[in-house]
Amino acid sequence: MKRTFFLLGLALCLLVITFPPGCYYDNEQDLYGNPEPCDTVGVSYSTFIEPLLQDHCYKCHKESEPEFSGYILDGYENTKTYALSGKVADRTNNAANPMPPLSDGGLLPDCDRQKILAWIRAGAPQN
Ligand code: HEC
Repeated sequence: MKRTFFLLGLALCLLVITFPPGCYYDNEQDLYGNPEPCDTVGVSYSTFIEPLLQDHCYKCHKESEPEFSGYILDGYENTKTYALSGKVADRTNNAANPMPPLSDGGLLPDCDRQKILAWIRAGAPQN
C-alpha cells in the first residue's frame, strides 16, 4: 500500500516536472493585441518634427528659454544642421546619454524616434 502511494506520488511529480502548470506559450501579440504600427512614411517637418521638438526639446534648445543649453535647435535651418550632423539621431537613441536627458524623462517613445530617424534619412526635408 505504502509503495503504491509512493509510486503515485512519484508519477505526479514527474508529470508536474514534465508539464509545469502555467508554462503555456504566451507571446506579446496574444497578451496585448497587435501593437500600433509605426508609420514612418513621409514624416513631415511642419506637422511632426517641429511640434515634437517644441514639446520635448525647445525648453533647453531655444535661445529665449530659461533652461537654454547653449545649443540652438529651433527653427528649420538649425534643426536641419544638427539632424544632418548625425547628432540628433545619436542623442535621441543614446540610452546612456539621451536627449531629452534622463532628468527630463529620457528617451522618447520608440515610434517617435523611428519617425525622427526616417525624417533624417530622407535628408531632413522642409516638408
Ligand atoms: C532639460 C534640458 C534639455 C532637453 C529637454 C533637451 N536637451 Fe538636448 N541638450 C541639453 C544640454 C544641457 C546639452 C549639452 C550637454 C550634453 O551634450 O549632454 C544638450 C545637448 C544636445 C545635443 C548635442 C549637441 C552637440 O553639439 O553636442 C543634441 C543633438 C541635443 N541636445 C538634442 C536634443 C533633442 C533632439 C531634444 C529633444 C528630443 C533635446 N535635446 C532635449 C539639454 C536638453
